[in-house]
Amino acid sequence: MTGSVGVALTGIDLRGPISEAAAQTIRDALFQHCVLIIRGQMLEPDHHLRLAGLFGEPFLPYYYAANALDGYPEIAVVPNFGKAKAPAEAWHTDWSHMSTPPTVSIAVGHVIPDYGGDTMFSNQYAAYDRLSDGMKALLSGRRATFVGSRPVKPQKMAGTADTLPASARETVINHHPIAREHPGTNRTALYLNRPGGAMVALEGFTEHESLPILQFLYDQSVTPDNVYRHQWQPGDVVCWDNRCAMHYGVHDYGDMERTLHRITVGGAE
Ligand SMILES: [Fe+2]
Repeated sequence: MTGSVGVALTGIDLRGPISEAAAQTIRDALFQHCVLIIRGQMLEPDHHLRLAGLFGEPFLPYYYAANALDGYPEIAVVPNFGKAKAPAEAWHTDWSHMSTPPTVSIAVGHVIPDYGGDTMFSNQYAAYDRLSDGMKALLSGRRATFVGSRPVKPQKMAGTADTLPASARETVINHHPIAREHPGTNRTALYLNRPGGAMVALEGFTEHESLPILQFLYDQSVTPDNVYRHQWQPGDVVCWDNRCAMHYGVHDYGDMERTLHRITVGGAE
Protein backbone atom coordinates (compact mmCIF):
# COMPACT_ATOMS: atom_id res chain seq x y z
CA MET A 1 0.00 0.00 0.00
CA THR A 2 3.06 2.23 0.47
CA GLY A 3 6.72 1.57 -0.12
CA SER A 4 7.17 0.26 3.40
CA VAL A 5 3.96 -1.13 4.89
CA GLY A 6 0.66 -2.77 3.99
CA VAL A 7 -0.58 -5.00 1.20
CA ALA A 8 -4.00 -5.38 -0.41
CA LEU A 9 -5.43 -8.71 -1.41
CA THR A 10 -8.02 -8.81 -4.20
CA GLY A 11 -10.01 -11.54 -5.92
CA ILE A 12 -11.12 -13.29 -2.76
CA ASP A 13 -14.58 -13.51 -1.16
CA LEU A 14 -14.16 -14.06 2.56
CA ARG A 15 -17.80 -15.18 2.80
CA GLY A 16 -17.05 -18.22 0.65
CA PRO A 17 -14.84 -21.22 1.35
CA ILE A 18 -11.21 -20.40 2.16
CA SER A 19 -8.82 -23.09 0.90
CA GLU A 20 -5.69 -23.94 2.87
CA ALA A 21 -3.64 -22.39 0.04
CA ALA A 22 -5.63 -19.16 0.32
CA ALA A 23 -5.29 -19.23 4.10
CA GLN A 24 -1.52 -19.55 3.79
CA THR A 25 -1.43 -16.66 1.29
CA ILE A 26 -3.39 -14.50 3.76
CA ARG A 27 -1.07 -15.36 6.65
CA ASP A 28 2.11 -14.86 4.63
CA ALA A 29 0.90 -11.53 3.22
CA LEU A 30 0.08 -10.20 6.66
CA PHE A 31 3.24 -11.44 8.35
CA GLN A 32 5.47 -10.00 5.59
CA HIS A 33 3.71 -6.65 5.17
CA CYS A 34 2.43 -6.07 8.75
CA VAL A 35 -1.00 -4.88 7.51
CA LEU A 36 -3.40 -6.67 5.14
CA ILE A 37 -6.35 -4.92 3.48
CA ILE A 38 -9.21 -6.76 1.80
CA ARG A 39 -11.89 -4.36 0.55
CA GLY A 40 -15.54 -4.84 -0.37
CA GLN A 41 -16.28 -7.62 2.11
CA MET A 42 -19.59 -7.32 3.91
CA LEU A 43 -18.73 -9.91 6.53
CA GLU A 44 -21.25 -11.43 8.89
CA PRO A 45 -19.96 -12.22 12.39
CA ASP A 46 -19.41 -15.89 11.53
CA HIS A 47 -17.24 -14.93 8.51
CA HIS A 48 -15.27 -12.55 10.69
CA LEU A 49 -14.68 -15.31 13.26
CA ARG A 50 -13.59 -17.75 10.56
CA LEU A 51 -11.06 -15.23 9.19
CA ALA A 52 -9.69 -14.64 12.69
CA GLY A 53 -9.43 -18.41 13.12
CA LEU A 54 -6.80 -18.52 10.37
CA PHE A 55 -4.46 -16.81 12.84
CA GLY A 56 -5.39 -18.49 16.10
CA GLU A 57 -7.86 -18.34 18.97
CA PRO A 58 -9.70 -15.12 19.84
CA PHE A 59 -8.25 -13.18 22.72
CA LEU A 60 -10.93 -12.96 25.37
CA PRO A 61 -10.08 -11.31 28.67
CA TYR A 62 -13.16 -11.26 30.88
CA TYR A 63 -13.61 -7.51 30.56
CA TYR A 64 -13.37 -7.43 26.76
CA ALA A 65 -16.72 -9.23 26.42
CA ALA A 66 -18.48 -6.27 28.06
CA ASN A 67 -18.18 -4.32 24.79
CA ALA A 68 -19.08 -7.29 22.56
CA LEU A 69 -21.59 -7.78 19.79
CA ASP A 70 -24.76 -9.51 21.01
CA GLY A 71 -24.22 -13.26 20.94
CA TYR A 72 -20.56 -12.93 19.94
CA PRO A 73 -18.32 -12.36 22.96
CA GLU A 74 -15.25 -12.55 20.68
CA ILE A 75 -16.31 -9.54 18.57
CA ALA A 76 -15.80 -6.10 20.09
CA VAL A 77 -17.96 -3.26 18.81
CA VAL A 78 -15.71 -0.22 18.54
CA PRO A 79 -17.76 2.99 18.45
CA ASN A 80 -16.80 6.66 18.38
CA PHE A 81 -15.63 7.10 21.98
CA GLY A 82 -15.30 10.85 21.45
CA LYS A 83 -12.17 12.89 21.02
CA ALA A 84 -11.55 13.23 24.76
CA LYS A 85 -11.59 9.46 25.29
CA ALA A 86 -10.11 8.33 21.97
CA PRO A 87 -8.05 5.45 23.31
CA ALA A 88 -6.09 4.81 20.13
CA GLU A 89 -5.01 8.35 19.31
CA ALA A 90 -1.30 7.71 19.82
CA TRP A 91 1.09 5.24 18.24
CA HIS A 92 0.67 2.05 20.21
CA THR A 93 0.71 -1.74 20.33
CA ASP A 94 -2.39 -3.47 21.67
CA TRP A 95 -2.25 -4.87 25.21
CA SER A 96 1.55 -4.96 25.44
CA HIS A 97 1.24 -4.99 29.24
CA MET A 98 -0.11 -8.55 29.17
CA SER A 99 2.12 -11.56 29.80
CA THR A 100 1.21 -12.94 26.36
CA PRO A 101 0.12 -9.98 24.25
CA PRO A 102 -2.31 -10.54 21.39
CA THR A 103 -0.89 -11.12 17.94
CA VAL A 104 -3.27 -10.18 15.12
CA SER A 105 -6.19 -7.73 15.21
CA ILE A 106 -8.90 -7.90 12.53
CA ALA A 107 -11.24 -4.93 12.12
CA VAL A 108 -14.22 -4.70 9.77
CA GLY A 109 -15.60 -1.31 8.73
CA HIS A 110 -19.36 -1.08 9.32
CA VAL A 111 -20.25 2.60 9.71
CA ILE A 112 -17.63 4.98 8.32
CA PRO A 113 -17.94 8.77 8.65
CA ASP A 114 -18.16 11.00 5.58
CA TYR A 115 -14.57 12.00 6.19
CA GLY A 116 -11.81 11.24 8.66
CA GLY A 117 -11.28 8.35 11.05
CA ASP A 118 -8.24 6.93 9.26
CA THR A 119 -5.98 4.40 10.93
CA MET A 120 -2.20 4.63 10.52
CA PHE A 121 0.25 1.73 10.70
CA SER A 122 4.05 1.45 10.96
CA ASN A 123 6.46 -1.28 9.86
CA GLN A 124 8.42 -2.38 12.92
CA TYR A 125 10.71 -4.67 10.90
CA ALA A 126 11.90 -1.69 8.88
CA ALA A 127 12.14 0.36 12.06
CA TYR A 128 14.60 -2.23 13.40
CA ASP A 129 16.50 -2.81 10.14
CA ARG A 130 17.49 0.82 9.80
CA LEU A 131 19.05 1.10 13.26
CA SER A 132 22.83 1.30 13.53
CA ASP A 133 24.82 -1.79 14.45
CA GLY A 134 25.62 -0.06 17.75
CA MET A 135 21.97 0.42 18.64
CA LYS A 136 21.10 -3.14 17.57
CA ALA A 137 23.85 -4.42 19.87
CA LEU A 138 22.50 -2.34 22.75
CA LEU A 139 19.00 -3.79 22.24
CA SER A 140 20.07 -7.38 21.66
CA GLY A 141 18.50 -9.72 24.19
CA ARG A 142 17.16 -6.78 26.19
CA ARG A 143 13.62 -6.50 27.51
CA ALA A 144 11.44 -3.45 28.06
CA THR A 145 8.89 -2.93 30.83
CA PHE A 146 5.27 -2.51 29.72
CA VAL A 147 2.51 -1.17 31.95
CA GLY A 148 -1.25 -0.99 31.61
CA SER A 149 -4.52 -1.20 33.47
CA ARG A 150 -7.44 -3.56 33.57
CA PRO A 151 -10.80 -3.16 35.29
CA VAL A 152 -11.24 -5.12 38.49
CA LYS A 153 -14.67 -6.33 37.39
CA PRO A 154 -16.45 -6.72 34.02
CA GLN A 155 -17.91 -3.48 32.71
CA LYS A 156 -18.47 -1.56 29.51
CA MET A 157 -15.64 0.89 28.93
CA ALA A 158 -15.58 4.10 26.91
CA GLY A 159 -11.95 3.83 25.89
CA THR A 160 -9.29 1.94 27.78
CA ALA A 161 -9.19 0.88 31.42
CA ASP A 162 -6.81 3.80 32.03
CA THR A 163 -9.83 6.11 31.91
CA LEU A 164 -11.53 4.35 34.86
CA PRO A 165 -11.29 5.74 38.40
CA ALA A 166 -8.29 4.35 40.30
CA SER A 167 -10.52 2.24 42.55
CA ALA A 168 -12.03 0.45 39.53
CA ARG A 169 -8.79 -0.63 37.86
CA GLU A 170 -5.60 -2.47 38.67
CA THR A 171 -2.14 -2.10 37.19
CA VAL A 172 -0.52 -4.86 35.15
CA ILE A 173 3.23 -4.94 34.44
CA ASN A 174 5.12 -7.33 32.15
CA HIS A 175 8.48 -7.46 30.37
CA HIS A 176 9.02 -8.34 26.70
CA PRO A 177 12.05 -8.36 24.37
CA ILE A 178 12.28 -4.99 22.65
CA ALA A 179 13.63 -6.56 19.44
CA ARG A 180 11.71 -9.76 18.76
CA GLU A 181 11.91 -12.35 16.04
CA HIS A 182 8.55 -12.86 14.35
CA PRO A 183 7.81 -16.61 14.22
CA GLY A 184 6.09 -16.32 10.83
CA THR A 185 8.98 -14.59 9.04
CA ASN A 186 12.04 -15.07 11.27
CA ARG A 187 12.63 -11.34 10.86
CA THR A 188 13.37 -9.06 13.82
CA ALA A 189 10.92 -6.27 14.65
CA LEU A 190 11.01 -3.52 17.26
CA TYR A 191 8.31 -4.13 19.87
CA LEU A 192 7.33 -0.78 21.37
CA ASN A 193 4.62 1.27 22.97
CA ARG A 194 4.29 4.88 24.10
CA PRO A 195 7.42 5.86 26.10
CA GLY A 196 6.62 7.01 29.61
CA GLY A 197 3.09 5.64 29.15
CA ALA A 198 2.62 1.99 28.29
CA MET A 199 6.40 1.41 27.97
CA VAL A 200 8.41 2.77 30.86
CA ALA A 201 11.92 1.31 31.01
CA LEU A 202 14.62 -0.69 29.32
CA GLU A 203 16.07 -3.60 31.27
CA GLY A 204 19.39 -2.71 32.87
CA PHE A 205 18.77 1.06 32.66
CA THR A 206 17.02 3.46 35.00
CA GLU A 207 13.75 4.95 33.77
CA HIS A 208 15.55 8.29 33.44
CA GLU A 209 18.23 6.71 31.26
CA SER A 210 15.73 4.61 29.32
CA LEU A 211 13.28 7.24 28.23
CA PRO A 212 15.49 9.08 25.68
CA ILE A 213 16.41 5.74 24.08
CA LEU A 214 12.80 4.53 24.03
CA GLN A 215 11.62 7.89 22.70
CA PHE A 216 14.20 7.73 19.90
CA LEU A 217 13.14 4.21 18.93
CA TYR A 218 9.45 5.18 18.98
CA ASP A 219 9.90 8.39 16.99
CA GLN A 220 12.08 6.82 14.33
CA SER A 221 9.55 3.99 13.87
CA VAL A 222 6.78 6.29 12.70
CA THR A 223 8.41 8.66 10.25
CA PRO A 224 6.20 9.18 7.16
CA ASP A 225 8.34 6.90 5.00
CA ASN A 226 7.56 4.00 7.33
CA VAL A 227 3.78 4.49 7.60
CA TYR A 228 0.59 3.53 5.77
CA ARG A 229 -2.59 5.54 6.43
CA HIS A 230 -5.80 3.61 5.79
CA GLN A 231 -8.87 5.54 4.65
CA TRP A 232 -11.80 3.35 5.64
CA GLN A 233 -14.74 2.38 3.46
CA PRO A 234 -17.68 0.25 4.63
CA GLY A 235 -16.85 -3.41 4.03
CA ASP A 236 -13.11 -2.98 4.49
CA VAL A 237 -11.33 -5.74 6.35
CA VAL A 238 -8.07 -4.56 7.86
CA CYS A 239 -5.77 -7.01 9.65
CA TRP A 240 -2.68 -5.86 11.49
CA ASP A 241 0.03 -7.82 13.25
CA ASN A 242 0.95 -6.35 16.62
CA ARG A 243 4.28 -8.19 16.47
CA CYS A 244 5.49 -6.08 13.53
CA ALA A 245 3.25 -2.99 13.40
CA MET A 246 2.23 -0.14 15.66
CA HIS A 247 -1.00 1.69 14.87
CA TYR A 248 -2.68 5.03 15.50
CA GLY A 249 -6.39 5.86 15.27
CA VAL A 250 -6.82 9.40 13.98
CA HIS A 251 -9.78 11.11 15.68
CA ASP A 252 -10.76 13.90 13.29
CA TYR A 253 -14.45 13.06 12.80
CA GLY A 254 -16.06 14.88 15.73
CA ASP A 255 -19.32 13.30 16.84
CA MET A 256 -19.99 11.48 13.57
CA GLU A 257 -20.87 7.83 13.86
CA ARG A 258 -18.05 5.39 13.21
CA THR A 259 -18.37 1.70 14.06
CA LEU A 260 -15.85 -1.07 13.53
CA HIS A 261 -16.22 -4.69 14.54
CA ARG A 262 -13.01 -6.15 15.80
CA ILE A 263 -11.57 -9.52 16.79
CA THR A 264 -8.19 -9.77 18.48
CA VAL A 265 -6.26 -13.03 18.24
CA GLY A 266 -3.87 -14.76 20.57
CA GLY A 267 -2.51 -13.98 23.97
CA ALA A 268 -3.83 -15.04 27.34
CA GLU A 269 -3.92 -13.74 30.87
FE1 LIG B 1 -5.19 -0.32 19.21
